Amino acid sequence: MNFLCRCCLLLFLSSLLIISSVDADGAGKQHSSAEDYLYLGSTALSEDDNSKAIDLYEKGIAALKDDGSESIITILSLETNLATAYSAIGGDVREKIIEHYEKAISAYDQIDPIDDKEIIEDAKSIASQSYFFYGMVLQDMEGTQQKSLEMYAHAVVLDPNLWAAWGNLGAVFHDHVKNYDEALNAYNKAYDVLTEQKNPTDPPADPKPILSQLQYRIGLCLTKNPDRKCALEGDPQTPVSCKEMANHAYSLAVQYDPDNESAKHMLATLTADATMKRASNKYVKDLFDRYAHDFEHSLVEELGYDGYARLRRGFDRAFGGRESLPTFSKVVDAGCGTGLVGEQFRNISSHLIGVDLSEAILDEAERLRPNLYNERIVGDITEVFRRKKPISLIVAADSFIYFGDLDPLFDAIEDGLDHEAYIAFTLENTDAETESTLNESKPDWRWQLTASGRFAHRKEYATKVGLAHGLTLIHYEKLDGFRHDHGKDVRGHLFVMQKGSSHKKDEL
Ligand SMILES: *[C@@H]1O[C@H](CO)[C@@H](O)[C@H](O)[C@H]1NC(C)=O
Ligand SMILES: *[C@@H]1O[C@H](CO)[C@@H](O)[C@H](O)[C@H]1NC(C)=O
Ligand SMILES: *[C@@H]1O[C@H](CO)[C@@H](O)[C@H](O)[C@H]1NC(C)=O
Repeated sequence: MNFLCRCCLLLFLSSLLIISSVDADGAGKQHSSAEDYLYLGSTALSEDDNSKAIDLYEKGIAALKDDGSESIITILSLETNLATAYSAIGGDVREKIIEHYEKAISAYDQIDPIDDKEIIEDAKSIASQSYFFYGMVLQDMEGTQQKSLEMYAHAVVLDPNLWAAWGNLGAVFHDHVKNYDEALNAYNKAYDVLTEQKNPTDPPADPKPILSQLQYRIGLCLTKNPDRKCALEGDPQTPVSCKEMANHAYSLAVQYDPDNESAKHMLATLTADATMKRASNKYVKDLFDRYAHDFEHSLVEELGYDGYARLRRGFDRAFGGRESLPTFSKVVDAGCGTGLVGEQFRNISSHLIGVDLSEAILDEAERLRPNLYNERIVGDITEVFRRKKPISLIVAADSFIYFGDLDPLFDAIEDGLDHEAYIAFTLENTDAETESTLNESKPDWRWQLTASGRFAHRKEYATKVGLAHGLTLIHYEKLDGFRHDHGKDVRGHLFVMQKGSSHKKDEL
């Protein structure tokens, strides 16, 4: 995740432009032709003509005198602006971009420390941006994230007020290196620069969404490691609960961006708001849109997830083995993600429908498993259950965990399922310690929002809701360790229910 999009590059370039044009207009100075090209190139750039700018900068570099008389500012500006103009045109110019940022950086390394103080300051400011832009290019490329860290680190040494470099430094530590302490430190630095009147370099026009994002990510870092010890900055001796600090961070995130569902959800999660009945669709969609490309890899490889295969095996067992399974004429895979579950049920489904809130993840499903689904639908599963009735089988692995209260969901399932049709789904349970605490303090507990942002359900509750909607439990399995979370096995349940029981609507 980048804090600065490509479109913002020009913001930075305009400041370079000032430096180069001031230099080009320098009183009484004999203009070298390299400087003229720099000036003309920057004019082209400010008119959005990147190709022309590239041409002029290339000419400027060719015209550089190699007798050491060229101003460091001219060289730095030409190389940096050229690399940045290349990255603005897109296309296969990666090598060009890298070449010229590298040249800018090595030009800066050769700066003469006895140079005019003002020149050194200007050179520093251009070089910090050069490092920053270069870092962004590397961050976006496969396999070079580690190197982008170095570039951001150089950028903030040269200009500690370059908040965006701090932000991106945090993002690389968080997303790629998974060093949450370093990430936390960098996010805090970015936040401080923007909020403590430290004269941030190129401040954002509207800082609120950025401040919200920074606090959100600070919250994530604080809760990543359950053994983490926290302390307040001014009072390092007194331990504070990290959850409490994360709570503060999420509430700041909500204050800066009151409509942000992700921040609201995480805040509610931490405060275990019992009034929260389901995750908002917006939250779930944001979550999966964001992770679409890496989703399956991180789920299966990093979290050791195999709930999808266990759902199919459990389903087979409910029927006393594979041979006794019928073929189902219309199957809905609810919250289908990248198709891991759909693939398991494909050979017993005549018509398979994949439903997900995230369009990005449905695209990923089609990319990974072309033509797996007969239909792909972007939408809310409860709405699709009603629209696609009568359904002969609903399968849902890890989808109902975004619902706390199962009643409205089961209402839609009851409506959508054909008579004597089936539903097979998984839920999560709390960890054993929480479960026994709940068993003692709230023997009739139904669901619990967990720190991961998902809901855990009690088996008896799910069974009861099913019955109230005419669904009889025909098979149940404990599903322990189907995913790891912070090194701990997540406990879960597997249910297979059939519609068409004669039970009365129970008190829930
Ligand atoms: C909500 O906040 C998250 C985390 O900061 C961010 O990634 C997301 O883009 C925000 N969503 C909107 C709609 O602003
Ligand atoms: C169908 O697919 C599942 C999951 O890949 C597999 O285990 C099973 O052997 C296949 N065949 C039948 C007849 O179920
Ligand atoms: C909590 O109670 C349920 C029955 O309601 C029981 O099955 C379960 O084992 C109990 N869990 C713990 C950890 O004591």
